[in-house]
Amino acid sequence: MKRSVVVLMAVCMMLGLCACSGKSNKLVMATNAAFPPYESVEGSQIVGIDPEIAKLIADDIGRELVIEDMAFDSIIAAVQTGKADIAMAGMTVTEDRKQNINFSDPYTEAAQVIVVKSDSDVESPDDLEGKTIGVQIGTTGDIYAEDIEGATIERYSKYFEAINALVQGKIDAVIVDREPGKVFVSENAELKMIDEEFTVEEYAIGVAKENTELLDQINASLKKLKESGKIDEIINKYITAE
Ligand code: ARG
Repeated sequence: MKRSVVVLMAVCMMLGLCACSGKSNKLVMATNAAFPPYESVEGSQIVGIDPEIAKLIADDIGRELVIEDMAFDSIIAAVQTGKADIAMAGMTVTEDRKQNINFSDPYTEAAQVIVVKSDSDVESPDDLEGKTIGVQIGTTGDIYAEDIEGATIERYSKYFEAINALVQGKIDAVIVDREPGKVFVSENAELKMIDEEFTVEEYAIGVAKENTELLDQINASLKKLKESGKIDEIINKYITAE
């Protein structure tokens, strides 16, 4: 048994090395497609801001975009082990994550917000003390919730599960990124968003530490796409200014 595990590991490592050797013309993007308007599943497609930007970058660097949908908290490991080339999942740049992967230049700004029931007494982040808070596991919302005094954290694998729990009155609030939060509130009449933002963040593309060539290519592409207005065009297509 032990022996076969060792053999299996060796085979996996060899496969991993091949995947990193740059022979493949595919650009594999790891995401968690339950995060509209950045990424969501529509029929058999993954659509949204991130796949559209990724497609332009892939075209620009002459690679074929392949999207892998997975748990949010598996994405960084997928990039580190070479299972995926890039992480693109409305992923916030954080110092902790920078220990494990490199980030491209940011492509957009974001924020964490609080979603509650319309009749909730929660009016600001301070009111979350002692409450039961739903988050998506491994997100920055999860990390911030940990700092709230006396709070109980309920961790879900997808945001909409947290939103359902909120609608059912099982939890008091959900901490989520602003634009997905807006989508969830627009789909549930009994929910509202607190105006005050919890934190301001930036989204960027994650790349394995050793893959500096790809990182440079992505940054060069992003620069062109920003300058030509293509990034704004995609974002404005999904997010209408109020
Ligand atoms: N911006 C937050 C973070 O980086 C949440 C991202 C969740 N993304 C997703 N595709 N589910 O932690």
